[in-house]
Formats: sequence, C-alpha cells, structure tokens
Amino acid sequence: MEQTLSIIKPDAVKKGVIGKIIDRFESNNLRIAAIKKLQLTQCDAQSFYAIHKDRPFFKDLVDFMISGPVVVMVLEGQNAVAKNRELMGATNPKEAAAGTIRADFADSIDANAVHGSDSLENAKNEIAFFFGTREIC
Ligand code: CMP
Repeated sequence: MEQTLSIIKPDAVKKGVIGKIIDRFESNNLRIAAIKKLQLTQCDAQSFYAIHKDRPFFKDLVDFMISGPVVVMVLEGQNAVAKNRELMGATNPKEAAAGTIRADFADSIDANAVHGSDSLENAKNEIAFFFGTREIC
C-alpha cells in the first residue's frame, strides 16, 4: 500500500471537473485518504516547487499555481505513485495517451490539470507539505 499526493490545478478547478478527475482515481482503486481545497500563496507555490527553482518555467509555474484555488489530495492504494502517474498521462498534454486525465482535461504544459508525486520519497515530503497526520484517514 502506498500514498501519493495529487493536486487538481487551477485550470481544472475553473473548468468544474474536480468530480470527474476524482472519479478517475476512485474508479481505479485509488482511495481519497485526505482532501482539501485551498488558494496557494506565492510563498507556498515557490516552496512546493523549489526543486524547479532554476528552471526557465519556474516563474510561470508559480504564477499559474496561484491563479486560482487548487484541490490537494492524498491518494492511497497499491502502487499509488505509479498508478496516479499512469492515470495522469504525460506532463505535456499533447504527448499524453488517450484516456488519461491530461489528454482529456488539460490545455498546455503549464495548464496541465493535475500534479502527482514522481517518487515515493517525494510523495512523503509533498504529503507532509499539505497535510498533518490527523487529516489523513
Ligand atoms: P507538474 O507535474 O506539476 O510539475 C512541474 C510543472 O511544471 C509541470 O507539471 C508543468 O505543469 C510545468 N512545466 C512547464 N514547463 C515544463 C517543462 N518544460 N518541463 C516540465 N514541466 C514543465
């Protein structure tokens, strides 16, 4: 059993597809162990994506992530990290396989609907960034 962090990004929240995205997880045996909707501050987004701070897209990424509310979740299930990434599809929706969340709901590499932890170690850190242990059921 693994846990991983998922973020429904501002573009998907604005489109009103929170429920459709959550259905992809629940229909594929990823349980919602924790969930909340929040508006990230600039400081939140810069800290969360600090690993990308030297990349040319960092400022646009931070600006985008604070452009509206997001939904953050802890997904739990067997091979949750890999399964979530498979359900999301490639980072660039133009390269995402048919039927994946990004192929169906994302518009661009910046507005790409969802974020998912890329390793078990990062998942632990990303979950701790957003959730206290009492919030994870
Ligand atoms: P995410 O999985 O949230 O992780 C970092 C985000 O940076 C990524 O999704 C994209 O939305 C965004 N991004 C923008 N340009 C790039 C790029 N060239 N390579 C990777 N990520 C990018």
